[in-house]
Order: sequence, then structure tokens, then C-alpha cells
Amino acid sequence: MSVNAVTVRVPAKVNVQLAVGGRRPDGFHDLANVFLAVGLYDHVTATPAQELRITGEGPDIASVPLDASNLAARAAVALAERHNITPRVHLHIGKDIPVAGGMAGGSADAAAALLACDTLWGLGSSRADLLAICAELGSDVPFSLAGGAALGVGRGEILTPLEVGGSFSWVFAVADGGLSTPAVYRECDRLRREQGTGDAAGDVPVPEADPRLLSALRDGDVHALAAALHNDLQAAALSLRPELAGTLQAGTEAGALAAIVSGSGPTCAFLAPDADTAGKIAATLGSSARAATSPAPGASVVA
Ligand code: C5P
Repeated sequence: MSVNAVTVRVPAKVNVQLAVGGRRPDGFHDLANVFLAVGLYDHVTATPAQELRITGEGPDIASVPLDASNLAARAAVALAERHNITPRVHLHIGKDIPVAGGMAGGSADAAAALLACDTLWGLGSSRADLLAICAELGSDVPFSLAGGAALGVGRGEILTPLEVGGSFSWVFAVADGGLSTPAVYRECDRLRREQGTGDAAGDVPVPEADPRLLSALRDGDVHALAAALHNDLQAAALSLRPELAGTLQAGTEAGALAAIVSGSGPTCAFLAPDADTAGKIAATLGSSARAATSPAPGASVVA
């Protein structure tokens, strides 16, 4: 049976723990990265075309490069190369995840494009094969495919799924303009050198998942999760964008149990005690704020 169009829905993520180790010789940092998928979604639709083409829509689409450098296009090329075929596909990205916001929006589009093309081309790749291609595309891409909750080690690409015993309510305050992930890691290294701790692997303790945080997820205990949220990149994001401190404070004053920069930022994430309070916090923070629940399922073909 030939398929004419395949749409994949894919979630954003927040890091409930981001423990950053020292810089490795390859320039990456070893992580203990606890990912939680949240219910803000992009959609990627793959349709047959003469050649690889990429289009998009959504409020922030002007800041997304719609060319071969787009991670979704690179995913289609990587999959086609693996199977010795030409990527004759039109990818259309419906963008709702903040761009360059620390919520893995680009990684989400890559994972979605991979699954959409695999389905469109009838390749039937195994989950393990798809995850391996994801890992080549970027550190956060495997988790975008997997969804749910997971501990990511290595660069963040080696995943162990985690049990989550309940659902959590979040508010995300999207900042104007993104932050570059490499720039935030560089700033983290610079701050470490300034503090005299050194920045290389060997100087910095090996990052480890916090057992209290893993229990909080397993028990679905929002208060315990709020107490354990931690992001080693937060100081670097605040150093590059000092105004984020005010956003974190505003969300806490509006009723959040805890506030944290999401990944490399600049999106700020607020954990609410329940969905009603999340709605109120979002209303207080204004039009840039979005409420969403977690965990959310990973990339999946929309019927
Ligand atoms: O893997 P990804 O392409 O998403 O990484 C983007 C950049 O973020 C890397 O080039 C690197 O500068 C930084 N990074 C890092 N350590 C990680 C993940 C990302 O230094 N574990």
C-alpha cells in the first residue's frame, strides 16, 4: 500500500535535573540528564516530492532555517543514506514548541521527520535503528523520539526510561529570542574556571542522577519533585540573560512550587501544585506563558 502523507506529533521536553560534568576532549559534556516530555507539540508532515523540500508554519517560524541545515531535513537525509535511497520528500513543520528555547524544539522536529519518513518510505526500521540515527543527529533527539521520562547519560543520548507515578502541571514562560546551546555550555565552562574549579572532565565531579528526584517522579510526588529540581546550566543562562531572574521570581510569586530554567534556556519552567494553579500562573505571567502537563508520549504517527 502506498502512503501519500504521514504526520507525526512530537512533544517538547523539560529537564527536571541537568547535571553537567566536565568538558570532554570531543567538546561535549557528560551529563546526568533527567528528561520529562511535556504536552506542547510540533507536527511534522512528510509527503512525496521531487526533491527534499522543507516548509513550516507557526508564530516563530521566521526564526527557523527552512533549508538543508534544518535538523528535520538532516534526519531525512540520514535515513535515506542508511537505506541507499534519495530523500524525495516534502517536510512541513507545524511549529508550536518555542524556537531555541531549551525545550528541544529542533530535536523534536528531527525525531518526528525521521519517524514520518520511515513510515512514508515503508522502511519499517527498528526502534534501535531509529534511536541510533537520532543520537547521530543530536544529544536530545533520542529522547524526543522516546518521550515519557528518561535518564540520559553520555552526551544525554544514552537513555534509560524512568517510571512516573502521576502527572505534573507546568507553566512555561517563553522569552523573546533564543539562547544558543553551545554558548550556554561555554558560559558554564567560563564560570567554572572563574570559580577556580576547572572545567574539564577530571576537574568536575562525574554527574549523577539525584535519587530523591527519581523517587519523586516514581511516586508522582509534586512537592518532592519541586524540592529536587536542579539545572547546572541555570547560572550560565542567567549570566547571559540576567532578566530571567525576574521571570523566575514572578512565577514563584504567582504560586509555583519551584522555578527552573529549562535546559539551556531561555524558557523558564514553573512546577505548579495542580492544573488550576498552573492556569492561574500562566494568566499572571501573560501571553508568553503556556500551561502543559507531563509526562507526554514520544513521537507518534497521527492517525
Ligand atoms: O548534541 P547537540 O547538537 O544538541 O549539541 C549542541 C551543542 O551543545 C554541542 O555542540 C555542544 O556545544 C553542546 N553540548 C555539550 N554537551 C552535551 C550536549 C550538548 O557541550 N552533552
